[in-house]
This record gives sequence, structure tokens and C-alpha cells, in this order.
Amino acid sequence: MDGLGKCRNIVLVGFMGTGKSTVSRILSERLGWERIDTDEEIERRAGKTIPQLFAEEGEQSFRNWESRVLEDVLSGSGKVVATGGGAVLRESNRRVMLAGGWVVALTADKDSLIKRVSSSAAAGSRPLLAGDAEARVTALLESRQRAYDFAQATIDTSRLSPADVANMMLNWMR
Ligand code: S3P
Repeated sequence: MDGLGKCRNIVLVGFMGTGKSTVSRILSERLGWERIDTDEEIERRAGKTIPQLFAEEGEQSFRNWESRVLEDVLSGSGKVVATGGGAVLRESNRRVMLAGGWVVALTADKDSLIKRVSSSAAAGSRPLLAGDAEARVTALLESRQRAYDFAQATIDTSRLSPADVANMMLNWMR
């Protein structure tokens, strides 16, 4: 990172439960930048929750919403964008993200992820983890092994608080 001036937007990518939303909130407050969570933006535009969207329109429709929202929000500047865990799967999305900002991947070990996504607050909000969350995380992690490697920086959040992660990023931006 060559200083704040060169960074148009910050884009957080990473598996479900890596802390993208919480870290984006802290960064947005500290920088005075607008925070966009692509899942929340999709829900607002579609007028449906993510589980409803998956159930009624299917995953492909959700992915189309996701691509449209990414393109729209990253055409501007001064935003901290938290993306959904699968936003990295389309090559076109990866291109839009790299062209639109500084892409930082948050990672965490499997046990930390399972603990975080199984908390009562998180349960039910992620259709891809419905049923046996542990088995679903294991299978998805396996299939997405290298999916976040395109990011320009990576932070392992397993033993860091969201504030630690945000501080690390802010230090890199100086
Ligand atoms: C998904 C992750 C979710 C949400 C949707 C699909 C995924 O976002 O976009 O349920 O494919 O990994 P979070 O990573 O914010 O949970």
C-alpha cells in the first residue's frame, strides 16, 4: 500500500465468519468512509433476506445480484466494502474488485470459523451452512481453498480481534 491517497476503496473478502462485516464497521468509523455490506445492499435492493432470495430465486439469482451490487458500489470511491464469502467465485467479480480498490482477504482456521458461524446470532442467516454447519464449512473450505489468493493482502484473524485487524490495515495504509 502506497498511502491512503492511492486507495480508492477498501474491499474485504474472505470466507463466512472471518469478520469482514465487523472489521468494515471499524474501518469506516476510523476513516470516515461509507460502509457497504454487499449482502445488506442485496437485501435492500431485492426487498428480501438472503435466505429468502436463495429459497425463492436460487443461488444463481443471488450471484447475479451480487455481481451487480459489486460493480455499482465499486464504481465510486471512499467506501469500505464487505463482500459475501462467495463473491470471489466469479472471475468478473475478482476483476471488478481489483480494479475498484485495495482487496484484503481475511482468513481463519477451521475451528475458529465453525465456532463463529455456529453462534446463535449467526445461525439461520447463511443458507449455504444450513443443516450440519461443521460439515458444510469443511466441504466449502475445501472447494474454496485458493479462492481468496487473488487478494493484495491477507490477514489471518484466528487469534486477532476485529479491532486488531482494522489497526493492522490502517497501519499498512499510512
Ligand atoms: C456466502 C456468504 C454469505 C452470503 C451468502 C453466500 C458464501 O456472506 O453472501 O450466504 O457463498 O460464502 P458472509 O460471508 O458475509 O456470511
